[in-house]
Amino acid sequence: MDGRVLNIEDLSIWYKTYRGHSKVVDHIDLFVDRGEKVGLVGESGCGKTTTMKTILRVIDPSIIDIPNGKIEFNGKSVLGMNKEELLELRRKGASMISQSPMSALNPVFTIGQQLMDIIKYSGQYPGASKQQMVEVAKEAITSVMLSDPERIMESYPHQLSGGMRQRICIASSLVTTRDLLIADEPCTALDVTIQDQIHRMLRELVEEKGRSLIMITHSLGVARELVDRIYIMYGGNIVERCRTKDLFRNPSHPYTIGLMECVPRLSGGGLSAGIYGYVPDYVNPPEGCRFCPRCKFATEQCRTMRPPHVEIEPDHFVSCFQYAKTAGEGGAAGHE
Ligand SMILES: Nc1ncnc2c1ncn2[C@@H]1O[C@H](COP(=O)(O)OP(=O)(O)OP(=O)(O)O)[C@@H](O)[C@H]1O
Ligand SMILES: [Mg+2]
Repeated sequence: MDGRVLNIEDLSIWYKTYRGHSKVVDHIDLFVDRGEKVGLVGESGCGKTTTMKTILRVIDPSIIDIPNGKIEFNGKSVLGMNKEELLELRRKGASMISQSPMSALNPVFTIGQQLMDIIKYSGQYPGASKQQMVEVAKEAITSVMLSDPERIMESYPHQLSGGMRQRICIASSLVTTRDLLIADEPCTALDVTIQDQIHRMLRELVEEKGRSLIMITHSLGVARELVDRIYIMYGGNIVERCRTKDLFRNPSHPYTIGLMECVPRLSGGGLSAGIYGYVPDYVNPPEGCRFCPRCKFATEQCRTMRPPHVEIEPDHFVSCFQYAKTAGEGGAAGHE
């Protein structure tokens, strides 16, 4: 099947809190084509995990509201799916490598039991004997560069190191074939040499099987090595999106430029300029551009109006008034 695997348009996600709605994700657009590798980059708390969990509908519906927007998976509305369709989506459509491997694994079952469950439940090995499924599980363990798969199959999560658990989470997402793999900071608990190997492995597996990938990361360096296109997220908004090479050739949103300046260089040169301040308070977000309180280019217009998405070159969009041709073009008052 060709075309678009994932299409998100104008999506907002609000958490219900005792202070009121926490408007974490704010009118975002994001798409992933078949076989494409896409990066989602942004600092901690900008809404990356919230967005991805919403694609799989794994956030308890009683704690969130989705006031507007659509999510389509292979052309089908995810927000309109019933329970069976959602199970099918998670079983065959998309899988997510979680940021926290300990909470993703069940402490009372061995790794082998958990992998075998995933294999059986996927329905992708009809008629396979138990021994054949054990072989699939062992192969998945070896593919994430863990030796002694027999011992690992018999281990409980607490008997493995943090890095091993993280790799088991990756293995469990790769053990069955799905259209989209969402990797949410898959290597945070791993040392740099292993990180590099895992990233390469992810890229190869995705390319080999013609799957699509969303790679969530804080690191522009990782995104540069792995993905075809990048979305830069700030404070629940997509502030810039373009092909990876265009981002590094021509970073344009003030936040993206700040992120690039934050990358430490081995050649030294002192501390980076950084981006001062914090992500916004989502219960009372800034009325205009959410980055405005931290932006040295902010004007009165940025404080009161939502910036337009401006295409500054082919397929390179920036959400910033600096790039609007005439003052106020395309801007929208407020955030709601
Ligand atoms: N259950 C919840 N109730 C209320 N607010 C929440 C809940 N879960 C997350 N948030 C808030 O939503 C915002 C975005 O969180 P999210 O986990 O999506 O960020 P992130 O971009 O994935 O960050 P990180 O890089 O640290 O993983 C944060 O301010 C967080 O405090
Ligand atoms: Mg996260």
